[in-house]
Amino acid sequence: MIHELSNPVVKTLVNHLRESKTDALRFRHIVQELARLLVYEALKAETVEEQMITTWQGKASFGFIKEEDLLFVTILRAGLPMIESVTALFPKASSGFLAMKRDEKTHQAILYYDRIPKCKGKTVIIVDPMVATGGSLCDAIAVIKSKSPKKIISLNIIGSPEGLAVLEQKHQDVELYIAQVDENLNEQMFIMPGLGDAGDRAYNTPE
Ligand code: PRP
Repeated sequence: MIHELSNPVVKTLVNHLRESKTDALRFRHIVQELARLLVYEALKAETVEEQMITTWQGKASFGFIKEEDLLFVTILRAGLPMIESVTALFPKASSGFLAMKRDEKTHQAILYYDRIPKCKGKTVIIVDPMVATGGSLCDAIAVIKSKSPKKIISLNIIGSPEGLAVLEQKHQDVELYIAQVDENLNEQMFIMPGLGDAGDRAYNTPE
């Protein structure tokens, strides 16, 4: 199921990313803020567990999200600012990393690095700014599903209708939260109007 955020704060932040003058530092900062807004939305119905804590008035029980059950996975490299930001909210959550590169000719995503810990019983939350063809995300989900997680959620900043349709067709059970669904993919498989290549924008590398 695809959930596109409608909040104008979110749309404003996405549109700052489209601005070419937005430099790499600000780009990463906005990506971090959007990752937080996405995770708030994605976990709004999450159950909380009562824990006894010591407060200024003595011992008392309060509800907390079970952070140990959360596993954040990112796809290098554009997702790095997102994982930094969401794991700062949940310091007891674990993290996993995948590296994929799109083949320039075939546009297929090639997996070349997999450091995902055990997923059994975990809510796995994938963070990656872009869903273009959907290839990277679908491949990442396939890797994670092979490790038997409890649930998979995807947090993304911008996507194409084509890539999201591929995801819905292949992985209906994944809940995807996205800040902006754009118009289409162009012939080079870039999201239009989009924001360019998020990895290049975040790390000042040439397009
Ligand atoms: C981008 C993005 C996704 C992927 C989406 O990464 O971060 O992982 O492209 O494209 P897809 O939906 O067509 O698979 P990219 O391959 O540009 O690597 P980078 O993060 O190192 O820039």
